[in-house]
Amino acid sequence: MTNYNLYILDSCKSTQEEVKYFLSSQGQEKFVAFLASEQTQGKGSYSREWVSEKGGLYLSFNYPFFKNLIPSSIIFSLIAIKSLKDYLLQQKIVLDNIGLIYPNDMVLKFNKDYYKVGGVLVETYKNFYIVGIGINVNNSVLNYKFEHRAISLKEYFLLYENISKEFDVVEIGKKILHNVASFKYDQEELFKELEKFDFSSEIQNVEVLLFWDGEKKDKFDKIKIDYLNNKIVLYKGRMRKELKFEKIFRIMY
Ligand code: BTN
Repeated sequence: MTNYNLYILDSCKSTQEEVKYFLSSQGQEKFVAFLASEQTQGKGSYSREWVSEKGGLYLSFNYPFFKNLIPSSIIFSLIAIKSLKDYLLQQKIVLDNIGLIYPNDMVLKFNKDYYKVGGVLVETYKNFYIVGIGINVNNSVLNYKFEHRAISLKEYFLLYENISKEFDVVEIGKKILHNVASFKYDQEELFKELEKFDFSSEIQNVEVLLFWDGEKKDKFDKIKIDYLNNKIVLYKGRMRKELKFEKIFRIMY
């Protein structure tokens, strides 16, 4: 795939909408990306707001549809995680405790807890996925009361690694775009990556909102994501339950 035309904005409502607007007004043959310093109406998954203060990374781009067994949100999370690791390595920093939790959380694991450091939102528009990546980089999120624990890279390195540093959001964004543009779907390779980066099966006490028969909510001890068969296996005591991906509305931990 050719490289992206990247537009860098000071502020916008949502980079997702910028990409859609561009595609509707400038033709659809293009690969375009928007990176904003802040968003006034950042969108998270499940119609939630994505708090988007200055210092964070807010990036959206279009990507043509492709046949994929592994959910696209997971694929783009993997690319974002690897890009972030690459960028940090260039800064001579090794980040080994980053991974993902199905379906769209990028997390840092430490002290046996998981802290959300970013998220991926995949929407569709015309012939494209519109992929939005939000990463807490230099902004502060530790004191926010989110449903999940959250942390930014800067907060993590300061508090837990004793490194005081600001990171280059534009460089991280460019790395992600470069890796997205050169991405080729290779299932075997992706499964190998998932073995390294998927933390979903380690978490315990998960609350799952299910989709069928109206909305049901239940708590499980453990989940396992079976990417090969598109299903989630839930465990509660000696009970075991299997669900297809599309039946799951939301997973909280
Ligand atoms: C999630 O809820 O975990 C997904 C968050 C996705 C946020 C990103 S920030 C860039 C893009 N623009 C938006 O309005 N949302 C996505």
